[in-house]
Amino acid sequence: MKTHGNHHGKRALVTGGAGLIGSHLVDLLVREGWRVRILDNIEPNTHKQGKPAWINEQAEFLEGDLRDRPTITAALGAIDVVFHEAAYGGYMPEIAKYVHVNSFGTAQLLEVIREENLPIKKVIVASSQAVYSEGAGSCPEHGLVFPAVRPVQQLRTGDWTVHCPICGVATATVPTPENAPVGGETVYGLTKVDQEKLVLLWGKQSGIPAVALRYSCTYGPRQSIFNPYTGVIAIFCTRLLNDLPPVLYEDGEQTRDFSFVEDIARANLLAAESDQLDGLPVNVGSGQGVPIREVAEQISEALGIRLPPEATGEFRPGEMRHLTSGTDRIRAAGYEPRVSLAEGIGRYLEWIRGQADVKEYFSEAAEILRSKGIVHRVVKEAVGKSE
Ligand SMILES: NC(=O)c1ccc[n+]([C@@H]2O[C@H](COP(=O)([O-])OP(=O)(O)OC[C@H]3O[C@@H](n4cnc5c(N)ncnc54)[C@H](O)[C@@H]3O)[C@@H](O)[C@H]2O)c1
Ligand SMILES: [Zn+2]
Repeated sequence: MKTHGNHHGKRALVTGGAGLIGSHLVDLLVREGWRVRILDNIEPNTHKQGKPAWINEQAEFLEGDLRDRPTITAALGAIDVVFHEAAYGGYMPEIAKYVHVNSFGTAQLLEVIREENLPIKKVIVASSQAVYSEGAGSCPEHGLVFPAVRPVQQLRTGDWTVHCPICGVATATVPTPENAPVGGETVYGLTKVDQEKLVLLWGKQSGIPAVALRYSCTYGPRQSIFNPYTGVIAIFCTRLLNDLPPVLYEDGEQTRDFSFVEDIARANLLAAESDQLDGLPVNVGSGQGVPIREVAEQISEALGIRLPPEATGEFRPGEMRHLTSGTDRIRAAGYEPRVSLAEGIGRYLEWIRGQADVKEYFSEAAEILRSKGIVHRVVKEAVGKSE
């Protein structure tokens, strides 16, 4: 019953407010009594059937591209807090488009606020765990270490180990704190680093509070079932529903930290309301690493479709082996994720069952990624085959 809490009247711009995270954030803000404006261009890769029906009717909806200066200028008028969620995501084959939407789009948004002297009170940008090079490790000799991205030459031999950067022994995975070095080992990751550095630097210069939230793998209802390049949970679900086994990169033992989308929305609200996170990059995750193979098994179990996942010996250069978010910083500000992976998968499946015609787009996409060198194959396996 918090509908008309003390934030009644606060005005938010949610860029990307038609997407997975943005739309749940819009719903939460509206429930909390905010006045909300959405800017979204209904990116066709994500929204194959056009403007989705879930866009909150109590929000003002501007359809347009944030890269267009007059559009973003209009969107920023009479706003208190900007939640910048719009981005080009995943492992798409483009290069320039990432830089244009994510890096340029963010730079221009900040520039417009400064040039127009807009009375914005806070900017919160959606960053990602993809800014890290590799998850933190523990070395028996050197304790907490920050390993580098694994070399492609190593991965080609089917060796997935993460080594201590000092002595070279295999490390055990541990939660990654925010002070781990940021790399940007994929084009997407690189532009996420750009976005958060631009926003945090601008915050320091302008004196306007700024926060970069580094989300872990986020999933839940409304996650695009059309975009085959993002969201392992969505991809596994659509594969299984089409009687195809989930495909595991590497050996499937790599781990990720999963967040249910409503928890990520709550983290945004917290960052807006608290000043404890101002000026900082902040991990948002469950703090727990789950092997990808286990995720596949949980989904097929929940669906009752018994198709064991297949590891094809393929890998994606630049991809981390392990990433668990170190969540001390956001927990200290009062964050606690509420939805477990099992419950979240259940809620996603419930939603997906209501979607007509769940097609499988992954196979075709995987072929494109192979041809562009984004997905590679273990060489010894290739040698064992006929070519
Ligand atoms: N989903 C995840 O696992 C995850 C993890 C870490 C970070 N993030 C980040 O969170 C944010 C939201 O991700 P999501 O999962 O909700 O993605 P999404 O694709 O569901 O939503 C993004 C929205 O942005 C819109 N958009 C894209 N380009 C635009 C442009 N040029 N102008 C206006 N609108 C545009 C799209 O139409 C879409 O509705 C992104 O910044 C993403 O990088 C997501
Ligand atoms: Zn060591």
